[in-house]
Amino acid sequence: TVNAIRDQLRRPLRDLRISVTDQCNFRCTYCMPAEIFGPNFQFMKKEERLTFEEMEQLVRCFARLGVVKVRLTGGEPLLRKDLHLFIERLSKIEQIEDVALTTNGVLLTKYAKLLKTSGLRRVNVSLDAIDDDVFNTINGRAIGVSHILKGIESARNAGLEAKVNMVVKRGMNEEQILPMAAHFKKEGICLRYIEFMDVGNTNEWNPSSVVTKKEILAELSQHFKLTPLKAAYYGEVANRYRYADSNTEVGFIPSVSESFCSNCTRARISAEGKLYTCLFATDGFDLRALLRKGVSDEDLIEIISRIWGKRTDRYSDLRKLSAKKQKKKIEMHYIGG
Ligand code: GTP
Ligand code: 5AD
Ligand code: SF4
Ligand code: SF4
Repeated sequence: TVNAIRDQLRRPLRDLRISVTDQCNFRCTYCMPAEIFGPNFQFMKKEERLTFEEMEQLVRCFARLGVVKVRLTGGEPLLRKDLHLFIERLSKIEQIEDVALTTNGVLLTKYAKLLKTSGLRRVNVSLDAIDDDVFNTINGRAIGVSHILKGIESARNAGLEAKVNMVVKRGMNEEQILPMAAHFKKEGICLRYIEFMDVGNTNEWNPSSVVTKKEILAELSQHFKLTPLKAAYYGEVANRYRYADSNTEVGFIPSVSESFCSNCTRARISAEGKLYTCLFATDGFDLRALLRKGVSDEDLIEIISRIWGKRTDRYSDLRKLSAKKQKKKIEMHYIGG
């Protein structure tokens, strides 16, 4: 039985984003700058992270409260050993209709087939440039664009639906907007431009570094004819368009200029088992402590529904109204975006 719950703003709980590790094999300047995340940086210890059994119990309980979609994130989720075994367990939970993964793509050539046969349906691959020099400057690692493109190809060949995410930051990669569109239009892959957000405390965000959906759309419109599409599901974060002369789509995630909190149905779990009701939350609820005390499904469901029932978060809507800086936000690599 499913007991669909609603928060204070009447928003249902439908998606669960689980960060399976806080580690990443990239050091993107806007997310895990190498100066801070150096060789001595203390990541979570193995015993601090939730086990697959623990995560499975959580998903089972969330499913009873209305969750139908699970997205695995990181850090880089494919760094978590045997992740496919967890995906296999997830896809066996009756109410879960969709299991997806957000990845930087480095390990996709290796794992795409295994992920697909384990029950994964979709991957969103982060790629911020199609030019090697720009890409390497951003990701801080000597991995070329062609390696990621091969990963995307492997995913598609394995039968996974693949989309590409490009974070656009002024001064970092805005000249890549058009070349990226041209490339992925040709490939028939949906590219989504993401407005750079003020996640965490280290990425030196300021409003002028945001390239808005409006700006990007204006630039694309000089070269392509685009037709807007309806949202694929309630609370979809992307606004999608179709190129008039093809079946390929292109999208925008305008979390800064056109925030979408009013139908935000997402809960997030960090790799150490904290529950967050917003990407910009400052505090999470420690579910791991309960799990490790052997909490029953019934009690867990009760606790989660009480937390969701009190939820009032709408950070992105409020960002526009108040210039006041929130003190200590959680970091992106920790909560998984
Ligand atoms: P689909 O299921 O393919 O639509 O995935 P998605 O777009 O929800 O997930 P993905 O991990 O690809 O995230 C794309 C971008 O949207 C990332 O920059 C996320 O941080 C951002 N995003 C996802 N959910 C939220 C949200 O609830 N609030 C905000 N502000 N940004 C979000
Ligand atoms: N703003 C917007 N998107 C971001 N991502 C990481 N940091 C930010 C940020 N500050 C993206 C990643 C990935 C997705 C999960 O979030 O590139 O595609
Ligand atoms: Fe880059 Fe994603 Fe890794 Fe952050 S988590 S450093 S955005 S690849
Ligand atoms: Fe949801 Fe918070 Fe993002 Fe708004 S800012 S859409 S409430 S996660």
